[in-house]
Amino acid sequence: MRPSTRLIHAPLTPCPAARTVSPPVQRGSTVLFDSHADFLRAGRGEYPGITYGTDRLPQQRMLEEALQDLERAALTRVFPSGISAISETLMAFVQAGDHVLVCDNAYGPTTRFCREVLGKFGVRCDAVPPDVGADITQFLRPETRLVFLESPGSITFEIQDIPAVTAEARRRRIVTVLDNTWATPLFLDPFALGVDVVIQSVTKYICGHSDLLMGSVSVNADHAQTLADFYACREIYASPEDCALALRGLKTLDVRMRAHQASALAVASGLAGHPLVDMVLHPALPSHPQHDRWKRDFRGSSGLFAITLKKEYPDDALGRFLDSLQLFGIGYSWGGFMSLATTGRPARRFGGPLQDRTLIRLNIGLEDPQDLLDDLRQGLDRLAE
Ligand SMILES: Cc1ncc(COP(=O)(O)O)c(C=O)c1O
Repeated sequence: MRPSTRLIHAPLTPCPAARTVSPPVQRGSTVLFDSHADFLRAGRGEYPGITYGTDRLPQQRMLEEALQDLERAALTRVFPSGISAISETLMAFVQAGDHVLVCDNAYGPTTRFCREVLGKFGVRCDAVPPDVGADITQFLRPETRLVFLESPGSITFEIQDIPAVTAEARRRRIVTVLDNTWATPLFLDPFALGVDVVIQSVTKYICGHSDLLMGSVSVNADHAQTLADFYACREIYASPEDCALALRGLKTLDVRMRAHQASALAVASGLAGHPLVDMVLHPALPSHPQHDRWKRDFRGSSGLFAITLKKEYPDDALGRFLDSLQLFGIGYSWGGFMSLATTGRPARRFGGPLQDRTLIRLNIGLEDPQDLLDDLRQGLDRLAE
């Protein structure tokens, strides 16, 4: 063989696989078949193996299987971000002429996708109150096909009465979807509460290290075929490296979630008595308006909550507070090891005590909670100056 051929076909002897504790990452587009007969089988959809890079390479399959098992789902598929998992789900389960309801505390881009993209294709979308329960019936129309919940909402933290909503939806064969990113499968089992489709922004707690974007969709048996077919048609696959990192994140999810839970509760309780702080929006505190629902349905709480202040402050004063924090980064997203702080004034369609209020949202990371509390207290002193 001449040099160019030798370069392409080296090494001529395959290297034996090593049983490393963490599985090797396999990247690829072309996947070789052993024979022309296998190639023809793949064309007929009868080949049992992996046919191409978009056919979910091993890392993706391992991650999906691990999540499916954790969620106790009939089927799980992963997507390149949380928002792509959400938009693909909405496209998979609705069609022109359908009506969709979205809780008013859902992640902003979820609502925006419903209104701006689904709206363009003849799907009508309306909001329901962030604490909706059996009163969902007031908002249903004969053509309502899907109800999208996020509980607690990741900005304002209201909790929906999930079993009451799913009971009404089931009676009418309406699909219920829950964004369960805040609780993760460890702290809430949505399928046991009657939910049909469960979303995770894997980007947050499952990854845990703020170094990738990914989302997952898990479904019960009634909806497995729809998800599998839509996924196969769209071929929006996830990168093997990101799947490997998400799999690694899963190994420590349980210990990290317990640490986030304990630290966030310590910080939230510490802030509750501060003279500048008004509300502490944390579902596991008895002062939370839907605390009883949280106690009934959830097995734990995570590291994300918000506070309001007794006075409203202009942005430059809020900036004095945020910029003075030594341990909290200022940035989007949450669920990682590093504490973050952001501000927001969420739009409210249904009024309530958060109307026109500034929220300071805190992602409590894995630092010592006393250090975090000291940092927030010195920041609040700056705000009061
Ligand atoms: C509750 C919730 N769901 C979904 C998403 C979207 O996830 P991603 O950032 O992976 O697109 C976010 C992002 O902040 C979120 O907060």
